[in-house]
Amino acid sequence: MYKAKAYSATSATSPLASATIPRRDLTDQDVQIEILFCGICHSDLHQVRNEWSGVMPTVYPCVPGHEIVGRVTKVGSAVTKFKTGDLAAVGCMVDSDRTCKECQAGLEQFCANFTLTYNFPDKHLGGVTYGGYSDSIVVDQRFVLHVPSNLNLAGVAPLLCAGITTYSPMRHWGVTKGKKVGVVGLGGLGHMGVKFAHALGAHVVVFTTSANKKDDALRLGADEVVISRNADEMQKHATSFDFILDCVSADHDVAAYINLLGRDGNVTLVGAPEKPFPVSAFNLIFGRRSLSGSPIGGIPETQEMLDFCGKHNITSDVEVIPIQKVNEAYGRLLKADVKYRFSIDMASLKSE
Ligand SMILES: NC(=O)c1ccc[n+]([C@@H]2O[C@H](COP(=O)([O-])OP(=O)(O)OC[C@H]3O[C@@H](n4cnc5c(N)ncnc54)[C@H](OP(=O)(O)O)[C@@H]3O)[C@@H](O)[C@H]2O)c1
Ligand SMILES: [Zn+2]
Ligand SMILES: [Zn+2]
Repeated sequence: MYKAKAYSATSATSPLASATIPRRDLTDQDVQIEILFCGICHSDLHQVRNEWSGVMPTVYPCVPGHEIVGRVTKVGSAVTKFKTGDLAAVGCMVDSDRTCKECQAGLEQFCANFTLTYNFPDKHLGGVTYGGYSDSIVVDQRFVLHVPSNLNLAGVAPLLCAGITTYSPMRHWGVTKGKKVGVVGLGGLGHMGVKFAHALGAHVVVFTTSANKKDDALRLGADEVVISRNADEMQKHATSFDFILDCVSADHDVAAYINLLGRDGNVTLVGAPEKPFPVSAFNLIFGRRSLSGSPIGGIPETQEMLDFCGKHNITSDVEVIPIQKVNEAYGRLLKADVKYRFSIDMASLKSE
C-alpha cells in the first residue's frame, strides 16, 4: 500500500478538501497511473452530496472522479497491454466478475458484480474505491484504455464518462445519416452528444433552457436549436424525431420529448434526476414509441469511442481548473454555467 494525494468530501454538506488516501501495491495485472487530468461529471456532485441515497448511498470520505487520463508509471509483471510512459485512461468502472454473460459480451456496465471507480466496495483494500480527484490510481489492465496520441489530454478526460455515455446509446439506437436526433441539455454529456450525433451524420436538434448557448450549440454541430421553455418552438417539432438523448441532470418534463417522437422513435435517458416522473401510456402506445435509459458503456465500446474520437479529432470543450477550484466549479455546475466540462489539472495537487 502507498499513499496518494486526493481531494475528498467527509459528508454530504462539507466541501471537498485535501486528503491522503491509500492505493494498493500492484498485483501482476495492475497498471499504476499518474493522473494528469480528471473531468468533473455531474454524477460526482450527485454522489458527493448523497443525492442518490436511495440507489447508491455515499460512503464518506468520498473521493469522486471517473474521467481519468494520465501516464503509466508502473506495471505488474503480467501486464501486456501497457508499458511505463504510455498514455492511459480510466472511466467509471475498475473491475467486474469477467465471467457472466455480460462481461463475456464486453458489456461490463451490466455486470451484476462490477466495481465502480469510486464509492463502491474495494475488493483489494476493503472500504470503498477512491476516484480520480487524486494524483495516482492503480487499476487492472483490463479496465485501462488506450488514448489516441493526437488528442488534447485535458479534453480527453471527459470522454471517459460524458463521451461513452452519449456514444453508446447513439450506436445502440442506430444514429446515422438520415436520422433526426435531439439532444436535451447542453452540459457535459449533452455537448458530447451533439458532437457524436453530428459526426455520425444525423440531423441534430439541441434543446436547451439557456438561450445564451445557441451559438455554441451550432458551433458544436447542431443543425437547429430549440429553447425548450418555448412551447410553440417545441410544437413545431411534434412527431418528427427518430431518437432523443435526454442529458438533463434536474427534474424536467420528459413527457414533452416523448411527444416529439415519430413512429418507433425512442427517448433515452442518460441524465439521472433524483425524482420519478409521470409518463402517459398513450403517448407511448400511439406511435409505438419507447422510453429507455442507458448506463455508460462497456470496455470494448469505450475503446471504440476513444478511437473514433482520435479519427474524427473529437475532444470535450473544457475549462481547465486547478483542484483548489473544485468547490466553486460544483456551484457553477448547478447553475449550468460551464462550457462544457471542467477538467481538473492534477499538477495543481502537488502544492497541497
Ligand atoms: N447514464 C449514465 O451512465 C450517466 C453518466 C454520466 C452522467 N449521468 C447523469 O447525466 C446528467 C447530466 O450530467 P452532466 O455531467 O452532463 O451535467 P451538466 O454538465 O450539469 O449538464 C446538465 C444540463 O442539463 C440542463 N439542465 C440543468 N438543469 C435543468 C433544469 N432544471 N431543467 C432543464 N434542463 C436543465 C442544462 O442544460 P441547458 O443549459 O442546455 O438547458 C445543463 O447544462 C446528470 O444527472 C448525471 O448524473 C448519467
Ligand atoms: Zn460521469
Ligand atoms: Zn460480469
